[in-house]
Amino acid sequence: MKIVLETERLYLREFTPEDAQLLVDLNSNPNVTRYTGDGPVNFAEAQKIILDVILPQYKNKLGRWAVHLKSNHEFIGWCGLKHILEVDEIDLGYRFFESHWGKAYATESALACFNYGILNLGLKTIVGRAAIENIASRKVLEKTGMSYIGDDIEHGNKIAKYRFTV
Ligand SMILES: CC(C)(COP(=O)(O)OP(=O)(O)OC[C@H]1O[C@@H](n2cnc3c(N)ncnc32)[C@H](O)[C@@H]1OP(=O)(O)O)[C@@H](O)C(=O)NCCC(=O)NCCS
Repeated sequence: MKIVLETERLYLREFTPEDAQLLVDLNSNPNVTRYTGDGPVNFAEAQKIILDVILPQYKNKLGRWAVHLKSNHEFIGWCGLKHILEVDEIDLGYRFFESHWGKAYATESALACFNYGILNLGLKTIVGRAAIENIASRKVLEKTGMSYIGDDIEHGNKIAKYRFTV
């Protein structure tokens, strides 16, 4: 297991091809994907996401990482920094099981990823995006220190954009 980051209550590790079922389970709740633009995935689709989207990001020390509780090692979701090629931006994103919302795990892991990006990787800019109505996600982005820079349309959805520049 390759652990990338640790916080007080959590550790973040690299996904592996064996983690497909975790993504299937996470995306199976429509409340979780309500604002994310995707939806349920089957096992083969989850495997493909890991192989084609998640693992290639690790080459640049970036990526979406699996988040676990230190207390019992439970997988609670993912968080991390993704290079979005089309716009050449480093995007902070996260997604957790509904049973773990409201415990500040999103804020704790997002802050750790944000600080890692700025302080360890020397990134000059990190962005975040959230559906306009996704208040919880917008709060998490604000808590990292990012500023709201305006609304945009992405894949047909209205989103709020946030940015931090050193
Ligand atoms: C967005 C998400 C990660 C937030 O997770 P969380 O664990 O509830 O976040 P935190 O506990 O760190 O709370 C962050 C802030 O949002 C607030 N919040 C949580 N749920 C809220 C809600 N439904 N409405 C308004 N504010 C809410 C919290 O009170 C907290 O603010 P505060 O510290 O000022 O009180 C979680 O809801 C999730 O995984 N959603 C599904 C996936 C998703 O939408 N990802 C983001 C895509 S851009």
